[in-house]
Amino acid sequence: MIKHLRSAADLDADTATLILDTAGEMAALAGREVKKLPTLRGRTVVNLFYEDSTRTRISFEAAAKRLSADVINFSAKGSSVSKGESLKDTALTLQAMGADAVVIRHPASGAPHRLAQWVDGSVVNAGDGTHEHPTQALLDAYTMRSRLGKIDGLRVAIVGDVLHSRVARSNVLLLTTLGAQVTLVGPPTLIPVDIAAALSPATKVSYDLDSVLPEADVVMMLRVQTERMQDSYFPSAREYSRRYGLDAPRMRKLPEHAIVMHPGPMNRGMEIAPEVADSTRSTIVEQVANGVSARMAVLYLLLGGKA
Ligand code: NCD
Repeated sequence: MIKHLRSAADLDADTATLILDTAGEMAALAGREVKKLPTLRGRTVVNLFYEDSTRTRISFEAAAKRLSADVINFSAKGSSVSKGESLKDTALTLQAMGADAVVIRHPASGAPHRLAQWVDGSVVNAGDGTHEHPTQALLDAYTMRSRLGKIDGLRVAIVGDVLHSRVARSNVLLLTTLGAQVTLVGPPTLIPVDIAAALSPATKVSYDLDSVLPEADVVMMLRVQTERMQDSYFPSAREYSRRYGLDAPRMRKLPEHAIVMHPGPMNRGMEIAPEVADSTRSTIVEQVANGVSARMAVLYLLLGGKA
């Protein structure tokens, strides 16, 4: 088993499949009255969040607690980070407390890689800048597999603000490792030149959502990340949503079995219409529940659990 999960590229097909299978066993636990396993008793998991988060932070906390680990939640607001303490000094403090795993979300791409050089425990990337978010990709793959029965051969369209999306980058890496065919869709201003080739040669790019939908098994909508935008990438929200938003008439172009995903938080009415987000095709709420199982599997396996 790998020691750290810094990037989806850390996972080969066998390791990724082992994590998804283990997540399936963890999910079975969620249906039981007592949702706890004793496996990580006596181990310490630190959640180190330098950026805002709802789903990911709560989900890692729930995952560690269900495995009976001791959980320390650290958020940059209200800590010595606001006094200017560096990531390295914070890392050394965690090291002194004996953290077995550190889950980190940070605005700087590459922060988890640096952190792994300073602590002895496992490092799990919970989102670093615009770079990667590997546990999101795992929970997304888990959701696809449980809804559609497989990942190999699936046609997945990832739509919208690819430029700023760590979710997109990790998904391309993981999904292509598992044999899916990925198409990135969005306005040319939001799809970095050569990204598809850089991440995985089989990945395609399209600027025309309507032509991709009839061929898709999965459409994954991305949030338009205005907080990361210093320039204007499209004329207006209305124009964006007219070309790249998923509304009900567009959703009808999808094959019968296709599912609609979104990592959250959503801009309802912009990249996704409320009636689509709340439709039976939507897996958005399931993705959140699956996030706990996927993160339990990651913590369990990284900290030495047996398959
Ligand atoms: C994503 C993130 O923070 O990268 N959200 C999440 O983890 N569920 C996507 C986003 O912010 O749009």
